[in-house]
Amino acid sequence: MKKPYVFVTRTLPKKAIGQLQQLVELKMWPKEDVAVPRDILLEEARKCDALLTMLSDKIDSTIIDNAPNLKVVANLAVGFDNIDVEYATEKNIAVCNTPDVLTDTTADLTFGLLMATSRRLIEAADLVREGKWKSWSPLLLAGQDIHHKTIGIVGMGKIGETVAKRATGFEMDILYHNRSRNSEAENQLGAKYCSFDDLIETADFIVCLTPLTTETRNLFNAATFKKMKRSAIFINASRGPVVDEKALYNALVTGEIAGAGLDVFEVEPINADHPLLTLKNVVALPHIGSSSTETRITMMRLCCDNIEAVLTNNIPQTIVNKEWKQSGVN
Ligand code: DGY
Repeated sequence: MKKPYVFVTRTLPKKAIGQLQQLVELKMWPKEDVAVPRDILLEEARKCDALLTMLSDKIDSTIIDNAPNLKVVANLAVGFDNIDVEYATEKNIAVCNTPDVLTDTTADLTFGLLMATSRRLIEAADLVREGKWKSWSPLLLAGQDIHHKTIGIVGMGKIGETVAKRATGFEMDILYHNRSRNSEAENQLGAKYCSFDDLIETADFIVCLTPLTTETRNLFNAATFKKMKRSAIFINASRGPVVDEKALYNALVTGEIAGAGLDVFEVEPINADHPLLTLKNVVALPHIGSSSTETRITMMRLCCDNIEAVLTNNIPQTIVNKEWKQSGVN
C-alpha cells in the first residue's frame, strides 16, 4: 500500500521526525533558515496528505484548493494566524498547533525581554564588547526598576498567566485584560482584571500576548501609545500586526513611552535598516519566543504525533478546529 506523503516546510532534526519518517513518505524543504518558496509549497501541497508548517508559511485557500489529498496541517507554533482555519474546516482538514509545551519557554523569553529592555542589557553588553566602558560611573546605563512596579498583561491565556507567575517573584502588581476573566490568575496570582484603557494608562510594563485576530490587528496604535505613561515600557511577544509599527516608532521618538521590547514584527524578518532598529530604547529579537532546544524539539514531535494521529484515523492531541470530523479521514 502506498504510504501517505508528508511535506515539512523546513529541515528538522532526525531525532524529532524519526518516528513519523518510518510510517510515511516524508520530504523536507532542504533548508533550515530559509522559508520554502510559495511555488514549491504549492507544488508539494498538490501531492501531500499532510503538511508540517512554520508560522512563516501562509496556508490560505489557494494552497488548500491546490491540495486535494490534504488531511492535516500541523503548525510548529501555538499561533495559527498564518492558516485559513475557517476554509480548512470547510474542507475538513485538521489544523493542529503546539500549545502548552511552549508556555514556560515563551513566558521566560517574554520576561527576559522585559528585563533586557528595562535594564538596558543589550546596550550595556554592546558597550563592554565594543571597548567603550571607560569607568564605573554613577548613572552608567541606568535603567528602570522592575520589582514592585505594575505589569499589565494584554491577553491572559496560558502564556500570559505564566508571565504573571514570573512577575510575582518580582513582587509586581499584576493587571490584565482579556476577552474572558481568568479566575486562576486572579485567585492564585492576585492578578486584577481591568479594562484595556485602564491597563494601558496605569501599567509600567505593558505586555502584549494576545493572538492576532481581526479584533486585535492594530490594537496598539497612536491613540493607545498616547494614553500610556511616558515611563511605560511596551513588550510584544505575540504577533507583529497587533501593533501599528509607525505609531510605535513615533511614540518612542517623541518620548510618549520610554522603551519597547519586541520579539515580533509586522513583516518578518525585518531588515537592518528598519526604523525601529535606529532607536536605542528598542530591544529587537528575531521571533524566538519558544526557541529553546528542548521546547522546539518537543514542538516538532507534537506536530509529528498530530500528523500520525490524523493519518491513522485517530484524534490529534492538539487540534485547533474542533469541528474537524475524524470520519473525514476515510
Ligand atoms: C508561537 O508559537 O506562536 C510563538 O510565536 C513562537 O515563538
